[in-house]
Amino acid sequence: MENEDTLPELTLFPHTAATGHQGHLAIGGCDTAALAATYGTPLYIFDETTLRAKCSEYRREFGERHPDTLAIYACKAFANQALIRLLQQEGFGLDVVSGGEMHLARSAGFPPGLVYFHGNNKSGDELRQALEWGVGRVVVDNFHELDQLGRLAAGLGLTQDVLLRLSPGVDPHTHSHVATGILDSKFGFPIATGQGEEALTRAMSTPGLNLVGLHTHLGSSLYEVGPYREAIGIVLRFAAGMRQRHGFDLAEMNVGGGFAVQYRLGSPAPPVSAYAAAIVSAMSDGTRELGLRPPRLVIEPGRSIVARAGTALYTVGGAKDIPGVRRYVFVDGGMGDNIRPALYDSEYEAVAANKMGQPRTELVTIAGKFCESGDILIRDIRLPGLEPGDILAVPAAGAYSIPMASNYNASLRPAIVMVRAGRATLIRRRETYADLTAAEADPPPHEMTRPCGN
Ligand code: LLP
Repeated sequence: MENEDTLPELTLFPHTAATGHQGHLAIGGCDTAALAATYGTPLYIFDETTLRAKCSEYRREFGERHPDTLAIYACKAFANQALIRLLQQEGFGLDVVSGGEMHLARSAGFPPGLVYFHGNNKSGDELRQALEWGVGRVVVDNFHELDQLGRLAAGLGLTQDVLLRLSPGVDPHTHSHVATGILDSKFGFPIATGQGEEALTRAMSTPGLNLVGLHTHLGSSLYEVGPYREAIGIVLRFAAGMRQRHGFDLAEMNVGGGFAVQYRLGSPAPPVSAYAAAIVSAMSDGTRELGLRPPRLVIEPGRSIVARAGTALYTVGGAKDIPGVRRYVFVDGGMGDNIRPALYDSEYEAVAANKMGQPRTELVTIAGKFCESGDILIRDIRLPGLEPGDILAVPAAGAYSIPMASNYNASLRPAIVMVRAGRATLIRRRETYADLTAAEADPPPHEMTRPCGN
């Protein structure tokens, strides 16, 4: 088997990726062309070794610098019962943002005490579900939620541990769709306007709520560490002011997620160690200068846990040549299973999984099969000559693809397998046509017609 040294593109794939027999891409000891034949395509493959290596890298890099660190995985990047069980084994907590994600965690048997419940518009039902299940923290996002949660907790005779989500007003220099810690954001209490302080005093005096700390999340895919330093300084100064004026004790500081990953060969992301060094030093410098007790640190990586572990496989179908303009090569997935290129202009690499090592002789654009011109997975990529039936593998596809997948064009969401040491486990089956009508078929439509009053 060849290794990462011989094919540079393999560095974007899981740690176990290699060129196996017949020049096929292998992941986790499994031949990807054989996986495509067994499970069909589009297929998402998650490499257990890479997932666990990432988890331990986070534990090590943050834990060595600040032992009282809890890493919680942001489920929105990709959640599934098998993955949730793996994260539990790795000592992670979970960040959930909906009743649905809570349900996934609960059905995987995840301990509720390690669950943080986020969201800017949690419903009364979701809050009640969180309280009754016993989630570790509710991260309160706005005044309506603060009041509602206080009432619900008191009504149930509970005291709920909460964090306040603050908006520090820091530009994370990322795509505008995924910037959250700026002043003009729907998330959190702005510090600059005084609403952070108002929320803090209200939370401290609300029976049923126990304010244990502060949360801030700047955005996703931050390729720089500077914004973390800046935001931590702002939040710590806020905490010091609140201690002086209101006797607030910052026991826990949650700095969110947003750690970037490498999608393209020429665009490396900072290593976990760089984020850990910047965050922990900003926290320890700040607490020392302000005379604060160093709080527990919580981090919420999502993308960076799952991105590299996940690979998407597609089968090549037809092509369209427009002489002098472009050659489109079509694959059997696209914006239905990965909307990120269409939504954020995200860029990916690809290899021909059954032609590894062959010269990249053609400049092509990889288009999906959905009825939209914007359904382009990769624009202008050099690949070996592709023919119908070839397998295209897209690396770093594990984050925010499956959870944002849709049934657009009544397509079937893909199967997902987890691979390790030459064995593959189907962790989610491909949807079937019956799934498409399951929510409609029973009872038949005429029985669903009700008088609706006026
Ligand atoms: N914590 C909070 C409060 C968040 O809102 C998020 C992501 C995270 C943690 C995890 O951030 P990460 O480490 O994954 O960057 N759909 C977009 C990304 C949306 C991120 C939403 N919030 C994408 O595909 O790029």
